[in-house]
Amino acid sequence: MATEARPEQPPARASRLGLLWESAIGKKALMAATGVVLFLYVFFHMLGNLQIFMGPGQLDRYARLLHASPQLLWTVRAFLLCALAIHVVAGVQLDLSAREARPVRYQELRSTHSSTASRTMIWSGLLILAFVVYHLLDLTVGVANPGFREGEVYHNVLVTFGRGVGVLAYVVAMVALGFHLWHGVWSLFQSLGLSSRRVTPGLQRFAAAVAVILTLGFSSIPMAVLIGILRP
Ligand code: HEM
Repeated sequence: MATEARPEQPPARASRLGLLWESAIGKKALMAATGVVLFLYVFFHMLGNLQIFMGPGQLDRYARLLHASPQLLWTVRAFLLCALAIHVVAGVQLDLSAREARPVRYQELRSTHSSTASRTMIWSGLLILAFVVYHLLDLTVGVANPGFREGEVYHNVLVTFGRGVGVLAYVVAMVALGFHLWHGVWSLFQSLGLSSRRVTPGLQRFAAAVAVILTLGFSSIPMAVLIGILRP
């Protein structure tokens, strides 16, 4: 008796995340999604920090509020850490494969479509990563802050910016953040398919404005300490 040929079993399905991770376009989508999460954090962090201009009482109260529920705090921290890890690893892998695909650098790099910000995304990104590590040791853990006092955020920030090296480190990192966001926000619009002749100039101006607002917003704090507007 003839036996019917059975159709081959499909290979075990990889998870959706695994499939996304395997393709360059999927990695770009993951970078866009995690980029939005990180951007929102940075934006609200800047707004929170600007309360320093309302005095030590206000800033320290705000910090106590953020620490009120350790469970919530650690859940948010874990979520942000996952977003950061995906964003960094995908970014480094995409950059490495782009370099492998084009081992010889162009003799002359003069493109109207690529800005300085877009060509230096990997470097501004790695600089921001190094800054975040220093920043955590400075204002969260306190080991890089010579006058750290647990829970006294206003005091700790003033110690950091009371030193020229602290002001310089933060301002350089904020400029790198501005460049990174300028291209990052614009890239996001492109990933969403929003770029077109009609809307592109407006979106590019919006991305530049976002970058300038964040760089100036954060930098206003070290500058205010430097020129004596914020005092112990
Ligand atoms: C002038 C610039 C900045 C100031 C004054 C500042 C201030 C602070 C302070 C005081 C804390 C500790 C809060 C606390 O323990 O309650 C903190 C934590 C933190 N900051 Fe900033 N920050 C600045 C820029 C940035 C930027 C640009 C980033 C990201 C790119 C960033 C990411 C973080 C992270 C991830 C934490 C840890 C939050 C946590 O404890 O879970 N900060 N910052």
